[in-house]
Formats: sequence, C-alpha cells, structure tokens
Amino acid sequence: MNPYDKTEMKFEKNILCIGAGYVGGPTMAMIAHKCLQYKVTVVDIDPERIAQWDSDGLPIYEPGLAEVVKAARGRNLFFSTEIERGIKEAEIIFVSVNTPTKTFGAGAGMAADLQYWEKTARQICQCAESPKIIIEKSTLPVRTALAMERILTSNDNAVHFDVLSNPEFLAEGTAINDLENPDRVLIGSRLTESGLKARDELVEIYANWVPRDRIITSDTWSSELSKLAANAFLAQRISSINSISALCEKTDASISEVAKAVGMDSRVGSEFLNASVGFGGSCFSKDILNLVYLCRSYGLNEVADYWESVVQINEYQKRRFVLNMMTAMFNTLVGKRICLFGFAFKANTGDTRESPAIFIARRLIEEKAELVITDPKALDNARIDLNGIDSNVSYIEDPYKAAAGCHAIAIVTEWDLYRDLDFEKIYRSMIKPAFIFDGRNIADHKKLFEMGFNVFPIGKPALTHF
Ligand SMILES: NC(=O)c1ccc[n+]([C@@H]2O[C@H](COP(=O)([O-])OP(=O)(O)OC[C@H]3O[C@@H](n4cnc5c(N)ncnc54)[C@H](O)[C@@H]3O)[C@@H](O)[C@H]2O)c1
Repeated sequence: MNPYDKTEMKFEKNILCIGAGYVGGPTMAMIAHKCLQYKVTVVDIDPERIAQWDSDGLPIYEPGLAEVVKAARGRNLFFSTEIERGIKEAEIIFVSVNTPTKTFGAGAGMAADLQYWEKTARQICQCAESPKIIIEKSTLPVRTALAMERILTSNDNAVHFDVLSNPEFLAEGTAINDLENPDRVLIGSRLTESGLKARDELVEIYANWVPRDRIITSDTWSSELSKLAANAFLAQRISSINSISALCEKTDASISEVAKAVGMDSRVGSEFLNASVGFGGSCFSKDILNLVYLCRSYGLNEVADYWESVVQINEYQKRRFVLNMMTAMFNTLVGKRICLFGFAFKANTGDTRESPAIFIARRLIEEKAELVITDPKALDNARIDLNGIDSNVSYIEDPYKAAAGCHAIAIVTEWDLYRDLDFEKIYRSMIKPAFIFDGRNIADHKKLFEMGFNVFPIGKPALTHF
C-alpha cells in the first residue's frame, strides 16, 4: 500500500526508516505496533525487499514478526521505495542501512564500509526542506555522527538537523521479544540545548512501551562505542568458553561442567556460556573487526590485538570442528555423505550471514565430501551462499530424508527441532559406522551412543564404539 495515499489521516509524528533489513523492518514494526499515533514508513533502495515486506512472504523470518507486521501494515506502518518523498515528509528519520566490513582498499577486511550510510546522509541533505532528527540505528564506528553532521550541514538551504545515536541491541531469532522488552534502550546526543531536546523527543517515542528506567541516555560518542563494545563483550564470552572447550577435549574434562561452575559465580553469570562450533551472524565479527581497526588507527595496538584474538579463536573453533570430523572419520571424507543439521547462524532465523555452516560446508566440499543440507528456514540462503560450488550438495527440508544414507550428521544450528527427532529411526537409515558431530551440544549424547552412533560433542570426551 502506498503510504502517501494516507495523507488525509492525521498522525502525531511522521517517522521514516531508511533501510528495510533485519533491523529496520522489525524495529519500525514494533514502533508502529506500540504507537498508533505515529505514521511509520520504511523505505529501501531494493524494490524486491519492499514488495516482500508488503506481501505475506516477509523477507526475513523472526518468530512473531509476521503477526506484528500484519496488524500494523496499511494502518500506520508502510513500506515504500519513494525515499525522497519519505525524507521530505518525516520529522524523524532512522538510518538503518547496512554497514558491512569493507572488502576493498584501505581497511579491507577490517573497517566498516560506510558507503551506504554516506549515500543516505547525502540524500537526506539534498531532499530535506524542514528540520529533522536523524537517528543512527546502524552500527557505526565511534564519532561517525560527526561525519553525518558535517554532511548534513554542508547544505546551503540551512535546514536544521540533530543527529542522535540509538544503536540497536536486538538479537536475531528473538528480535520481537527484544524489541518489546529491551534490557535497555540507549540514546546518545550532543549535550547542547537542541541535542537534548531531540534526545527527549526520541525518549518519548520509546516511553510509549519501554519503562523509563530502561531508557538510558549518554553523549553521542559513548553511545556509538557502547554498541561496538557490547558486541565485542558478547562475542568474547563465546570465544572464551570455546577456547576452554579445546582444552576439555584434550583432558577429558566436560565443558558443560566447567561452564556451570564458572557461570554460578554471580560476577560472571551463566548466560552466553555455551560452547559451540563458533559464533556467526552479520554483526559480531564485523563489529569487532571494526573496533580493532579503530584501535589500530588510534595507535592502540595492544587493545586491537586483544579484541582481534576473539575473532581468531572463532575461526580456530570452526577449523577445529572440521578437523575433528576428518580425524574421527579415518582421515578421509572423499565421497562420504555428510548431513548438516542447520545452516542458519543461530536458531529461529533464516539468516545465514557469517554462519559457521558456510565455512564448514566449504571445507567439506574441498575435502570432496557429498553434502546434504537441511534447515527449516535457511535453505534458500544456503543455496545462495554455496552457489557455484554446490554440484555435490543437496538441500532437503525433511531432516529424516536428509540424513538417510549419510555417513555422518553435523549439528550446526541449535534448532529445537533437532533436539526432538527420532534418532533411532535416523540411525537405522544411515551408513554404518554412523557418526554424529554435535556442534551445539544439544543432543543427548549418551542416548545416541547407546543407539550405536559414534558421538563427538564440543568440549567433552567423544563416545565411540571403536
Ligand atoms: N542484524 C542484526 O541483528 C543487527 C542488530 C543490531 C544492529 N545491526 C546493525 O544495523 C544495521 C543494519 O543491519 P541489517 O541486518 O538490518 O542489514 P540489512 O542488510 O538486512 O538491511 C539493510 C538495508 O538497507 C538498504 N539500503 C542500503 N543502502 C540504502 C540506501 N542508500 N537507501 C535506502 N536503503 C538502503 C539495503 O537495501 C538493505 O535492505 C547494520 O549497521 C548492522 O550492523 C544489525
């Protein structure tokens, strides 16, 4: 539906979001859902994406998202490709475009690629005819708001802009719950009269449903840096427990026991201490590498090395997983049929960006294994990720059919579905000796072993019949 058909309706505020991705779509759907008094329009340069947001086949999978979008769409939530018009009409503009790792030139492989973000800033500058609050929703290097301000004020038409930082902390897979009940909402602003006024306006939007004590404010730079630091700390916990999982495998200790004992210390806490095949997703590696690049550019090499090691351990963990498969399966995978249970980077999403499954699949293909990939939501993305190298890959949604005739299963994504399968039936359908490599430690390893499987968890002694 065209949002501009609704001009006869009076809304308290016109909110625009530029970028209809994993962040822009769900966050704006939540604002529209909670604030009927605002008109929320989401625009994107990608017409296909906008068409999907306007259809029953949303471009992303998130539990609960379809219901929220359906209820608000056409009422006070609109999707459009008319970016310029959207900019003209809005008083408040969220910028939620992608900021991937640069793949070329200076900082390639480390720095954030700010081209999409800068294009947006220039477009806002060109089209705006009235004062606006511009909100950085994308994750950006600290002090990017300054560059945004400089671009915006380069305009001769003297339109006033306030730039705020409002990083998004949602996690894919739980985005709707995270948006509805956030641990905190962070808003950074200039501490000028105008900056504080703009900040208060954004606080009022969130206060429609978020308790005031969870809406925290700071200066702009602290807000920008908090997002990078938060992702670095989260990823660091995963790399910390994964590094210990390697030692557990050498010493017959169990990572679950160690994690439990460590996590019961209230100073450490028990969340986010599950050993696994490694973290993925579009953010953790990208944001840490961005942090590392920033530290190096300020000459803080020791700090950069410290955070870079978090990414290095993650790469090591993925390599180790494939190497363990090779060693266990008699040092050759040639012609062996291996089933990957899961391709998404985590459960409850179809997103495969930076998924460990991509690395694992590529390595197994290099070793000339035959792959069968199963996933309830990510098979379309898996096909795209392996495009050109998948002549020996099949994609099968039913995990029973996928595993039949395989030598091994590797559990790569922690979908609940894989906890409750009839593994007796699966075992009977597989080639013997049958192997299971549990990259998420979600299966009942003892039970699988008793059925006849050779079981290789992460960070625990293997259970084999040899
Ligand atoms: N995905 C997450 O879980 C998550 C969580 C928190 C923060 N973030 C951050 O949010 C930002 C967006 O992430 P995402 O996952 O939503 O990315 P995404 O790639 O899913 O979506 C970005 C969208 O922006 C659009 N776009 C790019 N340039 C544009 C332009 N000039 N005009 C209009 N649209 C444009 C793209 O077409 C795309 O649809 C990134 O900075 C990311 O780091 C992501």
